[in-house]
Amino acid sequence: MQPIKRWDYAGEGLVEHELPPAPWELVDHWVQDARARQDDKGDVPEPDAISVATVGGDGQPHVRTVLMRYLAQDGPGFYTNFGSRKGLDLEQNPRIAAALTWPPMYRAIRFTGVAQRLSTQIVTDYFRSRPYGSRIGAWASHQSQPVTTRAQLEAAVASYEEKWPDTGSVEDVPLPDFWGGYVVRCDEVEFWAGRSSRLHDRLVYVRTGDGDLAEPGSWRVERRQP
Ligand SMILES: Cc1cc2nc3c(=O)[nH]c(=O)nc-3n(C[C@H](O)[C@H](O)[C@H](O)COP(=O)(O)O)c2cc1C
Repeated sequence: MQPIKRWDYAGEGLVEHELPPAPWELVDHWVQDARARQDDKGDVPEPDAISVATVGGDGQPHVRTVLMRYLAQDGPGFYTNFGSRKGLDLEQNPRIAAALTWPPMYRAIRFTGVAQRLSTQIVTDYFRSRPYGSRIGAWASHQSQPVTTRAQLEAAVASYEEKWPDTGSVEDVPLPDFWGGYVVRCDEVEFWAGRSSRLHDRLVYVRTGDGDLAEPGSWRVERRQP
């Protein structure tokens, strides 16, 4: 076995008195920091990559990475195919967990809660902002279903390209009714800050009321052991 490479997480940490009364401000701050780092040091190439875990009716968990293409005071969100594994899992069990992890920054945020579909208006606006190829791809891919060959997938792309040619308009490809987005309505938001000797800081906002991530009266903070 190769020797294990270890490095100490010499992060700045996180202390209670720095915390806002609700998690939104810090979520926004850390996400902005990670996005800035993408441009600056370049060691966080995909700051919006988020791991998303779901559990279907059979109790089997599934985790995958998606892009956090939605972030607002009601929670982080992503877009996908409703017929995919994650879509079917969420239909049976809306409970969801998601994690943003930025190792070079010694930071991670974990979200736990319930998935809710984003409105058709939000989804339509986002779908129209995507490049033509991605909009066609959404139609061509029966996400998570088996396919015999890659050529079959490419043939499906070609047939949709013929049906809806690229006119340069955002309306040339309609929104598939099997495609949309979810927002994670959080019950917990954990900020993890890596520190020396594995004595990391974990500060967790736990829901106490019905408000969104920016609502001060809806959260209490708990420190958890690393
Ligand atoms: C960096 C990265 C970003 C991805 N972004 C998305 C995304 O935004 N939406 C999506 O449905 N799949 C995305 N995928 C693909 C998913 O990881 C996954 O393969 C797909 O959604 C099917 O997952 P499922 O079968 O568990 O539903 C991405 C993969 C990677 C590695």
